[in-house]
Amino acid sequence: MRDIIYLFGPNLDRLGTRDPAVYGSATLADLEAGCIDAAARHGLSAEVLQSNREADLVDAVHAAVARNRAIVINPGALTHYSYSLADALAIFSGPKIEVHLSNVFAREPWRQVSVVAPVVNGTIVGLGKIGFMVATEAVAALLKASD
Ligand code: DQA
Repeated sequence: MRDIIYLFGPNLDRLGTRDPAVYGSATLADLEAGCIDAAARHGLSAEVLQSNREADLVDAVHAAVARNRAIVINPGALTHYSYSLADALAIFSGPKIEVHLSNVFAREPWRQVSVVAPVVNGTIVGLGKIGFMVATEAVAALLKASD
């Protein structure tokens, strides 16, 4: 059992070297450490999973129903077309926040559509790694409000 699971989708394991002008220089390990730290500052325990496979993320969301109180997710490109991930997230009733490092609304038209946005509490875009801090703050407040 961990309070929050931070989920990272395809290609986010390449952060640091992947298009730093768009995604920044932080690596996935940097982001993971920042997320665990941010959760701890709110007195919350956390775990992290990154996968390049849609099925792993769907399975992690299913497991989260019994294992986690909240989900923070950057689904990578799955954001734009994964109905199976959207359906899985819809099953999870706790707080859910979608985070994107880049401002997807200032990029290609296909990135401006999120099929998961309708099933999460809120979406944070364009703040780089700060987005995960903001998401953690939101999750902490939502969990407190539901206690
Ligand atoms: C991303 C935006 C997506 O469009 C892209 O496919 C990613 C990263 C972001 O964090 O800005 O992999 O989710």
